[in-house]
Amino acid sequence: MKSSKNNTSNRKQDHIKICLEDDVQFKSKTTGFEKYEFEHFAITELTLDEIDLSTEFFAKKISYPFLISCMTGGTIEAESINAKLAEAAEQLNIPIGVGSQRQLLEDDKYIASFKIISETVKSVPIIGNIGAAEFSKFDNPADKIMYLSEAVNASAMVIHVNPLQELFQIEGTPNFKGLQKNLEIVCAKISIPIIVKEVGSGISRRAAKILLDCGVKGIDIAGAGGTSWSGVEMKRNKNSYNEYFWDWGLPTSFCIKELFKLKKDYDFMLIGSGGISKPEDAAKALALGADISASAGILLKEVAANGVEGVTNLLLNWFFNLKKIMYLTNCKNISELKNVNLIKKEDLF
Ligand SMILES: Cc1cc2nc3c(=O)[nH]c(=O)nc-3n(C[C@H](O)[C@H](O)[C@H](O)COP(=O)(O)O)c2cc1C
Repeated sequence: MKSSKNNTSNRKQDHIKICLEDDVQFKSKTTGFEKYEFEHFAITELTLDEIDLSTEFFAKKISYPFLISCMTGGTIEAESINAKLAEAAEQLNIPIGVGSQRQLLEDDKYIASFKIISETVKSVPIIGNIGAAEFSKFDNPADKIMYLSEAVNASAMVIHVNPLQELFQIEGTPNFKGLQKNLEIVCAKISIPIIVKEVGSGISRRAAKILLDCGVKGIDIAGAGGTSWSGVEMKRNKNSYNEYFWDWGLPTSFCIKELFKLKKDYDFMLIGSGGISKPEDAAKALALGADISASAGILLKEVAANGVEGVTNLLLNWFFNLKKIMYLTNCKNISELKNVNLIKKEDLF
């Protein structure tokens, strides 16, 4: 058995390699976005120029309703990936998440792989990240979260919940006992917003309500239909292959619709992610109730293949297409897009 120090860094390396080289998408389950059609508005009097894609991320103005999801850190490879993703985030003026900071709790050997983000961006929000397996065991959760957020200059902190991944990870810890108690403590004591995020299995309305009652200010549903994290772990440990669990989880579109219902009772940011791989996915996520959307796997591939320019070009193309969708549905800003009508495909024929 290797030391935990080696394990964390090696595991991060495996994750990048597998996400780049293997097919780890959901197999038979989709995000569900393809089941919806926008209500075309034939008499729009808008022009493309007057459509505004800007929005806010926890009171900070950003240029597009999108964030680069938490991916990596804590390994050599992460430094150049994070440098490029951060440069793209800065050019586009959108928030960026760092990958799990667990490695930082062990030693500061790879601190540069995290710090490169705050050294690269000047003004965009940075989101720190730690897993529920570690967070739920912190004795002094507020101090630890302060330490982690300061280490990356974060203006919000993600606690990722990934029970399926922990279950299939060779070194996994499928044990989140203490999670709710520590969330309550941290949400009461820490001034920056706490976001709880899945990694591809989705968050149900029942779970979200408990999180909001703990004081969480943001939920990233990270639903099923994109990268399968049980799939990634099954690639690391071929003996654990099980098709049923590869595709476990609640589709992204379903989770957004469900959590949007909580908006009448709670004030929180709803982040729609998990399999967002086209501009129309990002648009439908907002039309179903998300405040902002996010992607991970597709951006990792793009940055590895084509660097900063690849990521900025890909996203600018998405945002231009988002603008076209807003033109055709008569939405002059993101608030209007969030209220636009989506028609279920079965009602079209
Ligand atoms: C290489 C890689 C590493 C990731 N590491 C983390 C992580 O450390 N913390 C986290 O919250 N999510 C992590 N994720 C999960 C993503 O943020 C995202 O929730 C998930 O991949 C689903 O989105 P996608 O379908 O757009 O890839 C990682 C994703 C990738 C591709």
